[in-house]
Amino acid sequence: MTWTVLASESLGVRSFATWVEEQRLLIDPSVALAPRRQKYPPHPLELRVFQERWSVIVQHLRRARRVVVTHFHHDHQVPYLPLWLQQDARVWMLDPRGLNARQQRRAHWLQSTLTERNIPYEVVDSPCWVVSRELWFSGPVPHGRDGAQGQVMMVGVQVGEERLLYTSDIQGPSHPRHMDAILSFCPTILLLDLPPTYLRIPGHLPGEVLVNLEHLFQACTGLHTLVVDHHALRDPAWQQWWSALETRTRQYDVRLLHGAAVAGKPLRILEAKRPQLFREQNP
Ligand SMILES: [Fe+2]
Repeated sequence: MTWTVLASESLGVRSFATWVEEQRLLIDPSVALAPRRQKYPPHPLELRVFQERWSVIVQHLRRARRVVVTHFHHDHQVPYLPLWLQQDARVWMLDPRGLNARQQRRAHWLQSTLTERNIPYEVVDSPCWVVSRELWFSGPVPHGRDGAQGQVMMVGVQVGEERLLYTSDIQGPSHPRHMDAILSFCPTILLLDLPPTYLRIPGHLPGEVLVNLEHLFQACTGLHTLVVDHHALRDPAWQQWWSALETRTRQYDVRLLHGAAVAGKPLRILEAKRPQLFREQNP
């Protein structure tokens, strides 16, 4: 399988946009920046990287045959994305019913733009395989431990013997439904969103998440690559939990990577370093 991460926190922006070449599949095509982080607005360097990553996403949108939107937060979709899609592209999105009013409104905008451009789309409200078992959707799973922020949808991609699973923003695995979905797909490549450790105890992953991961490593025996990015890489102390996690992945012969390593780009964690970036600019 030929796949890569197009944008993510390790590449300098809020995103987890992912591309799979064999299916010309683009998952969650968007980038965003934290409007405020420790009282600071985005640094000029972040604005530059934002432009760069968005233009990479646009290049891929123009080639995309399949697009998936796993929920309707700004770092995962923009309502005007159909502007760059070819007429033969197909779009799948999480069923917005059950999401908050703001996400429902954004879903409606996206659906209207797709309809205007005559691009077919399907809403997904339950677990299913589509296009001859090449693509799998988990249906709604909680966004975070208790689902207080709504629901997201996991995306599974099958190419030959490889099974790539994109968890979207589960901030886990911390809920039985996260575990059920991951175990039922049993990925060989897992793109995982861990909890926002920067909002809890920086540098520290909750024990329940580590226990759940251990369980996954034991159960998914074909798993060889774990890509961790997004919420947990907004943590300035991320290297602490990273090395604890790496100790475990090594025991199971699983490669641990962030999006920048997958993309073959230098690690560029910017949001977590925002105060430092401003201090360096104005010493
Ligand atoms: Fe997100």
